[in-house]
Amino acid sequence: MSNVQSLLARRNPAYALEQAFYTDPDVFQADLEAIHYRDWLFAIPACELVKTGDYVTYTVGAYQVIIVRGADNQIRAFHNNCRHRGSIICKAAKGNSPKLVCPYHQWTYELDGSLIWARDMGPDFDPKQHGLKTVHCRELAGLVYICLADEAPDFDTFANKARPYLEPHDLSNAKVAFESTIIEKGNWKLVWENNRECYHCGGNHPSLCRTFPDDPSVTGIEGGETPAFMQAHFDRCEAAGMPSQFYLHDDGQYRLARMPLKEGAESYTLDGKSAVRRFLGRSPFADAGTLLKFHYPSTWNHFLADHSIVFRITPVSPTETEVTTKWLVNKDAVEGVDYDVKRLTEVWMATNDEDRRVVEDNQMGINSPAYVPGPYSGIQESGVLQFTDWYCSTLARHLAPDTMAAE
Ligand code: FES
Ligand SMILES: [Fe+2]
Repeated sequence: MSNVQSLLARRNPAYALEQAFYTDPDVFQADLEAIHYRDWLFAIPACELVKTGDYVTYTVGAYQVIIVRGADNQIRAFHNNCRHRGSIICKAAKGNSPKLVCPYHQWTYELDGSLIWARDMGPDFDPKQHGLKTVHCRELAGLVYICLADEAPDFDTFANKARPYLEPHDLSNAKVAFESTIIEKGNWKLVWENNRECYHCGGNHPSLCRTFPDDPSVTGIEGGETPAFMQAHFDRCEAAGMPSQFYLHDDGQYRLARMPLKEGAESYTLDGKSAVRRFLGRSPFADAGTLLKFHYPSTWNHFLADHSIVFRITPVSPTETEVTTKWLVNKDAVEGVDYDVKRLTEVWMATNDEDRRVVEDNQMGINSPAYVPGPYSGIQESGVLQFTDWYCSTLARHLAPDTMAAE
């Protein structure tokens, strides 16, 4: 039994995970190989690639990926490695390029990955054998997902469930009004665990708490009956054509639910009123709350009546995680007229920074030899337990596929 397997085998699920899960390079590598290199990952909103040749690059562990919009309007993803001697092709975080040209010896690829030019390679050279290696890529209601595995797991079950929830938000008619990328000095699981509870919100998020309820029935996982105020909200939104009912997939990887904000609140602003005058999507009323969508291991999101916010979580090292946040507004909304960037972003810019601090403090404490895992609150931390359960079972399944298959 490997070290990671024995850590999993002695886990006490009612308690936080042991130190090694947050510090050990072997566990980090196992996380990447069992989870991030295998599962579907949210990469970007499709609206980021507007024109033919628009591309972004994305690094996940040891992999570098290019995501590019082709002349046929399709978005594709490729390994960002030249098929000659392997150089990185696109170095910028984003840009536009009519072809993908390797900077080393200028091998030139079409936007669909095919090799169209390679100098002096001789008569026997077959360009068809040297196209860029593809990365699985799917677009879901304006969200681009990729999968690094040779064989991607099923995407359709998730997509078919999520699409009706997402479509009213009309993300293909969005634009990125603002984006922020921060590195949190904490393991990626600490970033998730912190996201999955609001036990910390009252003490840490003064601006978010003006509009976001820290009621565990909103932030956690459904246990027992849906409270009447929440059911009334689901019913009102669904009658207006916006699927809202709480849904958690059987294997725990994703959740969808359109939750109410605090009484009278419309959006994540300091005064609770909408941040954007021209809405993104078809909500007939401003106080439609927030469609909460998480999909492990890469994304959580808030889709509001007036705008949407997508978050992407990328592990960088055992104790560092990149968190990228993008604020999406209607592509026809005019900055300075329909919205003000500071007003649009200030609540989540502050919240992200507050979350960064609590995650970093959490990591620092866990680094101490004195750290011993403590118990979760059954009332407040059902979401954390749900995440660690999903994580441990996913890791165990991929570490020992033969054993699982034999059971
Ligand atoms: S490594 Fe790309 S052209 Fe040589
Ligand atoms: Fe938080």
